[in-house]
Amino acid sequence: MKEQLSDIRAQALAALEAAPDSAQLEQLRVRYLGKKGELTNLLKQMGQLPPDQRPAMGQLANEVRAALEAALERRAQALEQQALEQRLAAEAVDVTIPGKPPRLGHRHPMSIALGEIEQVFVGMGFTVLDGPEIELAQLNFDRLNAEEGHPSRDWSDTFYFDTDSRVMLRSQTSPMQVRAMDSMPLPIRIIAPGRVYRKDEVDATHSPMFHQVEGMVIDKGVTMADLKGTLNTVVEQLYGAGTRTRFRPHHFPFTEPSCEMDVQCHKCAGAGCPTCKGEGWIELLGAGMVHPRVLEMAGIDPQVYSGWAFGIGLERTAMRRFKIADLRLIFENDVRFLEQF
Ligand code: DAH
Repeated sequence: MKEQLSDIRAQALAALEAAPDSAQLEQLRVRYLGKKGELTNLLKQMGQLPPDQRPAMGQLANEVRAALEAALERRAQALEQQALEQRLAAEAVDVTIPGKPPRLGHRHPMSIALGEIEQVFVGMGFTVLDGPEIELAQLNFDRLNAEEGHPSRDWSDTFYFDTDSRVMLRSQTSPMQVRAMDSMPLPIRIIAPGRVYRKDEVDATHSPMFHQVEGMVIDKGVTMADLKGTLNTVVEQLYGAGTRTRFRPHHFPFTEPSCEMDVQCHKCAGAGCPTCKGEGWIELLGAGMVHPRVLEMAGIDPQVYSGWAFGIGLERTAMRRFKIADLRLIFENDVRFLEQF
C-alpha cells in the first residue's frame, strides 16, 4: 500500500504539473481526489490492513492528499495567471492608432441668434426670464391694457383652451412683463425669450408657432431716450458699429407712446433693393414707453416710476442674420440645411 501511495503521488504530481488548462486540471482532481478517485479508493482499503500498520499508513495517505491538494492549488493559480496574461496581451490597446473623431452636432441657427441677443443684454445687466407658454388671457391681454373686444383677442387669432377664453397659448411674450412686475423688486431690467402662438397659416414668413424676445426696463426717470439709446447700442452690437436705425410711430395697447424700430438695409445701405422691398429700411421690433395703466395694474406708481419695453421676432432676426429665405426651413430640421450654420 505504501508503494501504491507513492506511485499515485508521483503520477498525480506529474500530471497536475503538466495540466494544460483548468478543465483538464478539474478532470485530474476528480481522477485522484474525487469520491471515486484513485486516492480515495486506496484509502477505502485501509480497513484491510493489519491494525498496527494503519496509523502510519493513514498519516502517509494524509500527506499524499495534502501534497496533491497543494499541487492542485498551485497549478490552478498558475493557469489563472497565464490566462490573465494571455487576455492582457490579446486585449492590449494600441494607443498610437488615430482615434475616430466623434460626430459633433452644433447649435440651431435660432439658438445662435438668440444667444447673440442674450449676450448683448446680459452684458448690459439684464436678467433672462423664462415663462409659461400656456398663459392666462388676463396676463396676455387684460393686464397689458388690451381690453375685451381688442382684435387680437378674437377666436380667429388666438388658441384658447376653454370656451370662456380664460386660458390660452400666449400670443406674445409681453405677459412676461406682467410676470416680471408681479414677482421682481424694482428696478427691473429683463428680457424674456420664448415661443408664442397665433392662428396663422404656414407660409414663407408665417407659422402658428414662432419665437419672440420681450424686453422691459422699469426704474425712476426712465425716458424714451433710454429706449432709443439702449436699442441703438444693441443693434450696433448685433449688426456692426455705425448701423443706422429709425423709429416710426406705431400703436400697441401696453405702451404710450409706441414705435417700431427699423434698421437700415444692410444690402443696399438705404438706397432701396429687393431685400428691403425698395424701402431702404427693414422693420426690426416694436417698442414703447410702458403705459401708465400697465404700471398701475401692477401696483407701480407711474408718478414715481417709468419704463420702456420692446418685443422682437426671433425668426425674422435669424432669417436676416443667416440670409434664410423661407421660414419653414427653420422648423423642418433637415440636416442638410442645418449643417450650413
Ligand atoms: N407684443 C408685441 C407683438 O407681439 C410686440 C411688442 C411691441 C412688445 C411693443 C413690446 C412693445 O414690449 O413695447 O406684436
